[in-house]
Amino acid sequence: MQKRQVLKGLIPVALALCLPSGFAQTAPFKIGFILPMTGQSASTGRQIEAAVKLYMAQNGSTVAGRKIELIIKDDAAVADTTRRLAQELVVNDKVDVIAGFGITPTAMATAPIATQSKTPMVVTAAATSVITTASPYIVRTSFTLPQAAVSIAEWAAKNKIKRVVTLVSDYAPGIDAEKFFKSQFTAKGGQVIAEIRSPLKSPDFAPFLQKVRDEKPDAVFVFLPSGQGAAFMKQFAERGLDKSGIKLIGTGDVTDDDQLNDMGDVALGVVTSHHYSASHNTPLNKKFVAEFEAANKFRPNFMGVAGYDGMALIYKALAATKGQGGGDALIAAMKGITFESPRGMITIDPETRDVIHDMHIRKVERVGGQLYNVEFDVEKQVKDPGKAAAK
Ligand code: DHB
Repeated sequence: MQKRQVLKGLIPVALALCLPSGFAQTAPFKIGFILPMTGQSASTGRQIEAAVKLYMAQNGSTVAGRKIELIIKDDAAVADTTRRLAQELVVNDKVDVIAGFGITPTAMATAPIATQSKTPMVVTAAATSVITTASPYIVRTSFTLPQAAVSIAEWAAKNKIKRVVTLVSDYAPGIDAEKFFKSQFTAKGGQVIAEIRSPLKSPDFAPFLQKVRDEKPDAVFVFLPSGQGAAFMKQFAERGLDKSGIKLIGTGDVTDDDQLNDMGDVALGVVTSHHYSASHNTPLNKKFVAEFEAANKFRPNFMGVAGYDGMALIYKALAATKGQGGGDALIAAMKGITFESPRGMITIDPETRDVIHDMHIRKVERVGGQLYNVEFDVEKQVKDPGKAAAK
């Protein structure tokens, strides 16, 4: 009996020894997503998981002969947890790609693991400019705050807005938004009269909204991470700011499609700049939104689309290596790649590995009884202004 078991155990080893070198190509190709499925950023995890699963349902789970194996881990947006999960995915599960990263600190904490293990790290959420410089193995499909902040600053300066108060979440992407809004707006003749930062972990905006009111600006420019927009809008209305004559502008994170429809009339007329709106008018986006809503009973937002595109990027890179994979080969295949996303055309900048895409100016309107960010102006194929500034 024992002998039989020993022999049985030896058979796979013997088989492996006589296998041709192409064996790796028949092994599953593992993608480990680390996402905030719980906690303050849980909507980001929920959106990306739904979009990744939709991509797989539409495109199958085999690429160039490799079975795609999806592993999803919840880090609750806690950077120490992200780092530990990334380590486990790379060392124990031997994943071929790590992906996800809901907020900037979790992406930054993981960058050294990507570098050391030469594992491609596809960032599908976090949006501080600096992230892609933290490892040569990072590629991003979400966006950067400088892309969004510069576009809305230009629009504001051209639209009779002269004095602005900025109000941002007090961590890296908020600082990017504040800095790039201010530099572009002042370069175009505008004035930033006060800069307010609110703590990331506290959704109580009351004291900050009072200060905005006291300053009597033409507009308040806002950046808050995905998931905080509805609470902000509620407090904005409760304090009467919607009737104060102070215009609300921002990056599109504040009128997030995940929550927009529940925000009510206070959101009407809010002008933001972003790379994705669920109402983007193309056949591909209409199909994406319809199939996403049918599968999930909620609307995709900019996080969902970045997860979907992250999956498309991985599939295309794996196909380009004819199923071979490998960290360096996958990154090489991703650099310079161009394809149509539900947001429009996107390119991975071969120099920075960051996403290049259109930035739209949008206004919240009621369309067919629902609230949407209706796109009305566009800046084509915008590269991250943060990289140009850092040079
Ligand atoms: C980040 C998180 C968000 O939810 C968002 O909308 C933009 C940026 C971040 O932490 O990088």
